[in-house]
Amino acid sequence: MSEQIERTLVIVKPDGFRRGLTGEVLRRIESKGYVLADLHITTPDRERLARHYEEHQGKPFYEPLVDFMSSGPATFVVVEGHRCIEGFRALAGATDPTKALPGTIRGDLGRDWGEKVQANIVHGSDSPESAAREISIWF
Ligand code: TYD
Ligand code: MG
Repeated sequence: MSEQIERTLVIVKPDGFRRGLTGEVLRRIESKGYVLADLHITTPDRERLARHYEEHQGKPFYEPLVDFMSSGPATFVVVEGHRCIEGFRALAGATDPTKALPGTIRGDLGRDWGEKVQANIVHGSDSPESAAREISIWF
């Protein structure tokens, strides 16, 4: 049985960046055993965010989401490792940081701030197709 190396896109979102949590998120990814393959910091532009979040266009949280994501610098990371797409989603925890279990990034480090959008510290691709598409948008 040989290891299938998979790649996923992780974003430390502007709330995580502002709060100084980038190192903590990267530490958890490395401690899990995944590899940081590429990384850069940028303030996401609305044009690429529209492509990144195309599945959510038209939903009530879409505009607040794009406003929030373009509000400041974020760290974009390509993570590598066997089953890292599913593995990072498990590390991240549930989308709603109030419901995310303790032990997860969102559960340990996130909370609801009463905003229209869930500022939940991290993004992780949800499938191999999403990962390939999202990595090609940001790298
Ligand atoms: P989604 O892809 O459903 O969640 P995940 O990041 O866990 O894959 O949604 C994208 C982002 O949109 C999510 O991280 C936060 C925001 N969002 C809200 O603000 N409210 C919502 O009800 C949902 C579903 C998402
Ligand atoms: Mg998603």
